[in-house]
Amino acid sequence: MEIKEYTCDILVIGSGGAGCKCAIIARQNNQDVIVVSKGLTFKSGCTMLAEGGYNAVFGYVDEEDSLQLHIQDTLKGGGFLNDLNLIHKLVTEAPARLVELEKYGSLFDRQEDGRLNQRAFGGQTYRRTCFKGDETGHEMMVGLRQEVIREGVKTHGEVMITKLLYDEAHERIVGAMGISLKDSSIVIYHSKATVIAAGGCGWLYPVTSNAVQKTGDGIVMAYEAGADVMDMEMVQFHPTGMLSPKSRRGVLITEAVRGEGGYLLNKNNERFMINYDPRQELATRDIVARAIYTEIQEGRGTDNGGVYLSVTHLPDEQVNTKLRTMVRQFKDIGVDITKEPMVVAPTAHHFMGGIRINTDCETNIKGLYAAGESTSGVHGANRLGGNALADTQVFGNAAGLKSSEQAKQTEFADPDEDEIKEEISRINSLYGDGTYRPMDLKKEIQDVMWKYVAIVRDEDGLKTAQTKLDEIDKKANDMKVSEIPEFNEDIIVALEIKSMIKLARLIIQSALLRKESRGAHFRSDYPETNDAEYLKSFILNKNGEVKTVKRGLFD
Ligand code: FUM
Repeated sequence: MEIKEYTCDILVIGSGGAGCKCAIIARQNNQDVIVVSKGLTFKSGCTMLAEGGYNAVFGYVDEEDSLQLHIQDTLKGGGFLNDLNLIHKLVTEAPARLVELEKYGSLFDRQEDGRLNQRAFGGQTYRRTCFKGDETGHEMMVGLRQEVIREGVKTHGEVMITKLLYDEAHERIVGAMGISLKDSSIVIYHSKATVIAAGGCGWLYPVTSNAVQKTGDGIVMAYEAGADVMDMEMVQFHPTGMLSPKSRRGVLITEAVRGEGGYLLNKNNERFMINYDPRQELATRDIVARAIYTEIQEGRGTDNGGVYLSVTHLPDEQVNTKLRTMVRQFKDIGVDITKEPMVVAPTAHHFMGGIRINTDCETNIKGLYAAGESTSGVHGANRLGGNALADTQVFGNAAGLKSSEQAKQTEFADPDEDEIKEEISRINSLYGDGTYRPMDLKKEIQDVMWKYVAIVRDEDGLKTAQTKLDEIDKKANDMKVSEIPEFNEDIIVALEIKSMIKLARLIIQSALLRKESRGAHFRSDYPETNDAEYLKSFILNKNGEVKTVKRGLFD
């Protein structure tokens, strides 16, 4: 098996919004940077798929808006579980980072007078979501990609990183290793600082809006290297994903549809959100997703198990200009959304849990940084729509700055050779003529998570999920993976399965610990929020310790 080795000052794992921003800033700080990504560079992150917008207080539409209100909305939307320092950074820096995006060439929509336009989004007091139609993430990636190339960042696409490399002598991360999808070679990176910006884990579920690479590998490898992970029970289900055809199940239907005035209707044509929250369609995602779930469970859903989302009452001009992607997405399946409603159902969307960081994106492991959806703390128990795109830029920037500062004062160091050998033999041990196809096992994991660890959870279900995952784990020791020399998807899926099982267990462990309902975590056996006992985040680590950190506004 061929081994390829590369050296760089800063290794960035992930080429979405956070990874690209981090790489640009590191280059501007004269660092030699490699961005490595599991899928095609720039195309495999979720930023590319993000539609509705980027939250930043400019007060260009609603002058009364303020940084303080953005902080309050984020905290309230997050069930008060957010890290206040991280929110403060997000909110105060989001506007400046947006202006930088425009300098890179990503242009946001304007009002007649030339000032940025801003739309309403769920859980926000005022209109503060900046946008480019309903293709905001795509527009951001156009500019970020150009800037990454202009700055001379090196990019390695279709390489799956499987392990972070540690040096005992210096007690820090000194690089990472993995496997190339193109030729199955082992790839080893030597770096002074390593940044995980590998996104979340939507594909732990069979219905998701995420890019297909998102199986949470970045979070698991950080955990394996000793990093603290936090709020692992917090998985966001976006209220509106496509329901049919099967091939499009889960594809995002942007919150901008509701921001522009779209109605949610049940099969009786009732605007049911009024029964759940006075903000109706613009309540936070946890509330809207659960309301849709309830309507469907109680028999008021469509025949195929969804509800309606309608913009037929809005002017065609508004729909055609502000929701272009939606118009195209549905035209493609024979639906004219200006004339008939969309059928929607919740879809796994965002992971609020992940690697624990401080405001400089440092983890508790020297030499290891994280930014974007791989991290936890910013969004608490439930993320507001529009805060993720801002998160990628604010924390991508912070990770770029801090990792550069550290790399400038750091010499290269050698990883532990035994660790490398062990990882190579772990990868090699997956090849073989076993019984189970990796893709089938991946599906089994997803089905367990969907059935027992999704929008509504309870103790029995969570424990059943644990047992079922143990059974899948056993099967995963007997997988059929051929040694195809090029584009061997099976070996990639086999590696994903190993980390998906670990991640699923961490989510369940945390979900069992939180015997209350808060944000996206709803326990039917503990339906109330219990601030007296649970206004705290659970922190897990590889040593099996469970730590907590107190949350909320007051000590
Ligand atoms: O609905 C959306 O457009 C998604 C936005 C987000 O997750 O922030």
